[in-house]
Amino acid sequence: MIQQTYVMIKPDAVARGLAGRIIARFEAVGLTIERMEYGMVTPEQAAANYAEHEGRPFYTGLVEYITSGPVVKIVLSGPSAVPVVRKLMGATDPAESAPGTIRGDFGLTLDANIVHGSDSPESAEREIAIFFG
Ligand code: RTP
Ligand code: MG
Repeated sequence: MIQQTYVMIKPDAVARGLAGRIIARFEAVGLTIERMEYGMVTPEQAAANYAEHEGRPFYTGLVEYITSGPVVKIVLSGPSAVPVVRKLMGATDPAESAPGTIRGDFGLTLDANIVHGSDSPESAEREIAIFFG
């Protein structure tokens, strides 16, 4: 089934010049770039995107981090785009994500884990509305 998903290349990865290599991995499996924008995440967008984590001990740091520098905001589409992107990203903690995944190859710590991808079609719809209106 054709799905859309929201992907965000996080500030540390953009600052390290990894955006092109990460986007190439999504292109390599055949996903289509529908929208793409370089820019900052506002505090309001960060709070909305991570509303499920409000109150957790890492929440404040997470919002500070995602608003700390420019990101690349992307809408991808394709068959099973949501789970395919999650598979390419790897486990949330780079210490656990397999070599060959984006986090496994480019990340080191949980708080700066390179990339975000929607965890369900419902999350994708919500997140695309937050970042692209
Ligand atoms: P994301 O939303 O960024 O794509 O990551 P995810 O679905 O794999 O993980 P999620 O559970 O949604 O967590 C969102 C982000 O919060 C940070 N985190 N820190 N210290 C902790 O226990 C902890 N747990 C999560 C991570 O940076 C994660 O990407
Ligand atoms: Mg998540």
